[in-house]
Amino acid sequence: MSTDNAVLVTGASRGIGRETAIALLKKNIRVIALARTADKLQELKNKFPKLVYTLAVDLTSDQSYRDLADLLTKEKLRLKALIHNAGALINKPFLETTDEDWSYLIQANTMSSIKLIRTCHPFLGKESHIVQIGSMGGFQGSSKFPGLTAYSVSKGTLSILTECLAGEFIKDDIRINCLCLGAVQTEMLEAAFPGLKVPVQSEQMGAYIAGFALEAQKFFNGKVLPVSLADPS
Ligand SMILES: NC(=O)c1ccc[n+]([C@@H]2O[C@H](COP(=O)([O-])OP(=O)(O)OC[C@H]3O[C@@H](n4cnc5c(N)ncnc54)[C@H](OP(=O)(O)O)[C@@H]3O)[C@@H](O)[C@H]2O)c1
Repeated sequence: MSTDNAVLVTGASRGIGRETAIALLKKNIRVIALARTADKLQELKNKFPKLVYTLAVDLTSDQSYRDLADLLTKEKLRLKALIHNAGALINKPFLETTDEDWSYLIQANTMSSIKLIRTCHPFLGKESHIVQIGSMGGFQGSSKFPGLTAYSVSKGTLSILTECLAGEFIKDDIRINCLCLGAVQTEMLEAAFPGLKVPVQSEQMGAYIAGFALEAQKFFNGKVLPVSLADPS
């Protein structure tokens, strides 16, 4: 097995995930960039050709995880960190949400995390860091908003998963933490709160997440941390 270290970032095609990937690449760290939009991933690869591996996959499809395992095996990659940032949002009042809406969000936000961690576990090593990108909407005791119930529930699962896996993975010395983000100016924020302008930009949050993924496993394990000056932003 090669000793190559890389960081896997899901949702690297835009918003916070793209900026997280760029912050890591600027530190000369190999990044495995996942999202569905192949041309956006290719743009990233064109900017950092020697450091980027791309995989255009839909995390609601099981084939994606087989493709990911194949890539990690073929390229002999070890994961220093796994940043699960990809996420989906449906903004709809609870009583109008359908089974399909719930099923989609559970697949995109909850099951994606479970399948990703199962797939990546053989490629993680001592002191590797799994970072789950949760949401203040899914943080216990935070303000909640009409229309975001299904989204918030599907993100809230990441908190308990983080606490449980921190215990399960102690024997492997793999660390896991969950960052519950407040509002960041992205396409998803526009879908959740149309017209809202907030002070935190995706570049700032991406740089913070990149640093957290590389360092915080030395100090935190199993923690669910609100990343928010106020509630919700
Ligand atoms: N922005 C905020 O205020 C805020 C607040 C709290 C939490 N968050 C969380 O932060 C993370 C990033 O949010 P963002 O604001 O940057 O969102 P965004 O701009 O909507 O980007 C979402 C990313 O996830 C990817 N993605 C979505 N569904 C996917 C799927 N089925 N398979 C693979 N990739 C998928 C998208 O790529 P493709 O479309 O190319 O697949 C995109 O790269 C999310 O987990 C979100 O819940 C954001």
